[in-house]
Amino acid sequence: METLGFFPFDSPSTSSGSLRVRMTFMKILAIGDIFGQPGREAIAALLPKIIAEHNIDFVIANAENAAGGRGLTPKVADELLSYPIDVMTAGNHIWEHDALHPYFDIHPILRPINVIERLPGRGWLTKSKKGLNVAVVCLQGQIFMEDKGPAVSNPFRMMEAVLPEMKQKSDLVIVDFHAEATSEKRALAWFLDGKITGLFGTHTHVQTADAEIMPGGTAYISDLGMTGPHASVIGLEADTAIKRFLTGERKHFKVAKDDVRLEGVIIDIDEKTRRPTSIERLQIKHSPPL
Ligand code: FE2
Repeated sequence: METLGFFPFDSPSTSSGSLRVRMTFMKILAIGDIFGQPGREAIAALLPKIIAEHNIDFVIANAENAAGGRGLTPKVADELLSYPIDVMTAGNHIWEHDALHPYFDIHPILRPINVIERLPGRGWLTKSKKGLNVAVVCLQGQIFMEDKGPAVSNPFRMMEAVLPEMKQKSDLVIVDFHAEATSEKRALAWFLDGKITGLFGTHTHVQTADAEIMPGGTAYISDLGMTGPHASVIGLEADTAIKRFLTGERKHFKVAKDDVRLEGVIIDIDEKTRRPTSIERLQIKHSPPL
């Protein structure tokens, strides 16, 4: 397992070694958008090793591009459900395959909570691990997302409306904010800082270098990155993407193959205070056997 990057950010108040010894942690791994077959192969090969190496307790993965780079099918969901993933989040592409709709009721697969249209599925759920109820929320942004799937309502107002119930029913609240604009993600993080445990962005497929524990105590990163082929244009073969920009032709869609990585973050949460103490960025290369 070749680690390309491992970037810890410790909360200044908990970075002392002696203090850490007395603390026990809930460790949450959040995995950036799984893209196509290369992404799924990286999950199959690397996820068990990461869980063992970092003592991970809870795994959240964005799976909205796991089937051929667009959407999620029942077959691909079945494959991902066979791996140790606790909750799958999504975004605008989750509406590509209607056959997935029955899965929303029987599996831990979320769709954006703030979709305006009456559509199947749920936008948040809670799952218990180590005696803690973890609420996971799938929320979609509005900025530059206008032509990307069904319209969504204001994510700030949505969180304001649903947070009291989430906090009543859970010990930790983790939000996957599936959005394009860094400004919208950072603004929402400040809006929710101290009110939720963690907020990570997805959708852009490029990991940002701003992982931090915010002043109010919320763990944050603007984007987790992508679990898929990085010798690409956000997962798409570069030639295909360039042709799209040159000609406007959008019917061809070819998933790239090379430089496959698993990207995401690990958030350590003090089980006693239920507050995050560190957030570490992960970039791990997947080298398939020859
Ligand atoms: Fe997306």
